[in-house]
Amino acid sequence: MTVTAADCTPNDLLPAGLLEFLYCVTPDAWIDEALANPELLLIDHAQCEKKAASTAMSLLYRYVDQPLLLSKMSQLAREELLHFEQVVKLMEARGIAYRHISASRYAEGLRRHVRTEEPGRLVDILIVGALIEARSCERFARLIPHLDDELAKFYRGLVKSEGRHYEDYLMLARDAASGAIDDRVAFLAAREAELISMPDTAFRFHSGVPA
Ligand SMILES: [Fe+2]
Ligand SMILES: [Fe+2]
Repeated sequence: MTVTAADCTPNDLLPAGLLEFLYCVTPDAWIDEALANPELLLIDHAQCEKKAASTAMSLLYRYVDQPLLLSKMSQLAREELLHFEQVVKLMEARGIAYRHISASRYAEGLRRHVRTEEPGRLVDILIVGALIEARSCERFARLIPHLDDELAKFYRGLVKSEGRHYEDYLMLARDAASGAIDDRVAFLAAREAELISMPDTAFRFHSGVPA
């Protein structure tokens, strides 16, 4: 018998180790807020896909001497732009107007901890990338049981690709470092968990506990 995505519980879709990599799960209050604000969720989701492509593109410009990073980031940027197109199309079909909204505190709250000297800078950017991808993956999986069939199917596909992006970022971070990165991962994962667990005034895809 073939097992299809529909037979899997959402956590089965997550890459091994992802839930241990993140220091906390998404609070239930965020899930409730997301279900109460489906339009805002999709608009910010579109923003996140676009930003993910742009982050990968900026690495392509800065680290031209690293072939593995170039091929992974080029592929990732293309996939994120495809996700962006898919979200925008879904919004159009649902009559949701795309408008400018402010970014959440999340990405900036992580990037402020990135070291300024190389190779620490690159290692930290890649770990932050892994955290953002892992959190997106975890949130998609948590949302799936509550969504309509079309959105649930779309998010199942995203869990797989964002899960792969998390693994690629982590692999690249290990590759870029001269030694073990465990301490850095622990430090940044703890900051990430704070941003997710602390009260947040603006609801967004990566926001904290709704204040
Ligand atoms: Fe994506
Ligand atoms: Fe991604």
